[in-house]
Amino acid sequence: MTVKSTPLKKIASALPFFEDADIEKISDDVKTILKSKKLVLGPYTQKFENLFSEYIGTKYGIAVSSATAALEIVLSYCDVKDAEVIVPCNTFIACPNTVLYAGGKPVFADMNPDTFCLDINDVKRKITSKTKVIMVVHLAGLPEPEMDNLAKICKERNIFLMEDCSHAHGAEFNGKKVGSLGIGGCFSFFATKIIPTGTGGMITTDDEKLQEFAEAFRHQGGIGGEGRIEVFDKFGYDFMMSEITAALGINQLQKLEKHLEKRRMIAAQYEKELSKIDGVKCLPNTNPTHSYWKFITVLDKGIDRNKVRSILREQHFIDAGILYPTLCHLQPVYQNLGHKEGECPIAEEVMKHQLTLPVNPFMTEEDVFYVTESLNKVIHQ
Ligand SMILES: Cc1ncc(COP(=O)(O)O)c(C=O)c1O
Repeated sequence: MTVKSTPLKKIASALPFFEDADIEKISDDVKTILKSKKLVLGPYTQKFENLFSEYIGTKYGIAVSSATAALEIVLSYCDVKDAEVIVPCNTFIACPNTVLYAGGKPVFADMNPDTFCLDINDVKRKITSKTKVIMVVHLAGLPEPEMDNLAKICKERNIFLMEDCSHAHGAEFNGKKVGSLGIGGCFSFFATKIIPTGTGGMITTDDEKLQEFAEAFRHQGGIGGEGRIEVFDKFGYDFMMSEITAALGINQLQKLEKHLEKRRMIAAQYEKELSKIDGVKCLPNTNPTHSYWKFITVLDKGIDRNKVRSILREQHFIDAGILYPTLCHLQPVYQNLGHKEGECPIAEEVMKHQLTLPVNPFMTEEDVFYVTESLNKVIHQ
C-alpha cells in the first residue's frame, strides 16, 4: 500500500477521544453528580475503585488525584524515610521525585537495552542494606520481563516491590495484570494516558493496611470519608479524585479492552513495516499483552535521531517522541544533588538513538503506513 499525500490531520501519540455516545453518557453523569451535590468521595469514586480493582484483580482500589500522588502514598506506606529506593533512570521524573517527597533516597538503575525495563544485574549491584523498595516501571506498556526474578530478590532481602503502571493499563505478566504483582500498583489517568481523565490516579493492592493508609493520606491523614474530619492522627494531603473524574474513568475503563486490541494491531503493523526499513530496530517483544502506550524504536548510530524527529514532527505532522529525552539522573535537579553521567551507561548510550512512534486507538492502517513511509523517507532521503 502506498500513501502519497500528507494526511491533513496530525498523527498524535496520545489522544483523549470520546465518541458521541460517550459524551452523552458522561454529560448525564455530570448532571447526576451536580444534582447530588456530592463532588468528592461519592458513589462514582467508589464504583470506579470497585470496577478498576476487579479488572486488575486486587482486593482494593484507591482513587487519587494523580499517579504522582499514588507513588508518594505507596512509598510513604513502605516508610522509605532515610532509606534507599531503586528506580529506573529512564522514567518520568515523578518516580524519583516521590521517593524524595517520602523522605527516601532514589538510587538510579540502568536499563536492559532489549526491553527498556530494568537491568537486573545493575539492580543487584545497587542493592545495599538500606534498600527498602524496588520500583518497577512497565515502560511504554511492556510488563517488566524480570518481574519473577525481582520478586525473588525482594523476598530474600526483605525489600518491597512496587509497580508504576502509568503506561501499562491492562498489560499482564504470567496471566496476572500489572498492578497486582507487588505491594501496590500506581496508575496514571493523565490526559495522554491509555485511560485519560484529565488528571487522576489509582492505587491497586491486596494489602488492607495500605488501603487504610492511602484512604487517610489522600484526605489530609484523617479517617472516615463522610462529613468533616476533625481528628488527624497522621499527616496527609488533599490527594482525592473528584466525582466527575471518576465518571470519566468509569467510561474509559469500559473502552479499555477495545482500545488495547487496537493498540496491539497498530504495533503489529509497525513491526511488519519497519522490518523492511534499514536503520530502524524494533524491540524484541514476546509478551502479547503489551499495552503499547508508545511504540519504541532504536535508530542506527549513524542516523541523526534529533533531526529525524524534528522533520517527522514539523514536516510530516507525526508526533514522534523520545521516552525520555533526558534521563532522570541527568536532569538538573538530580545533577544538583550530585548525580552524574556514567551512573547508568547503557541507558546513556541507547537513549541517544531511541525514537517512539505514535500509537493511539484511533489511528487507521493508512496512518500507520504514513508514519513508516515518512520515517523511511526522512532516514534515507
Ligand atoms: C512512568 C510515569 N510515572 C508517573 C507519572 C506521573 O503521572 P501523573 O501525571 O498522573 O502524576 C507519569 C506521567 O507521565 C509517568 O509516565
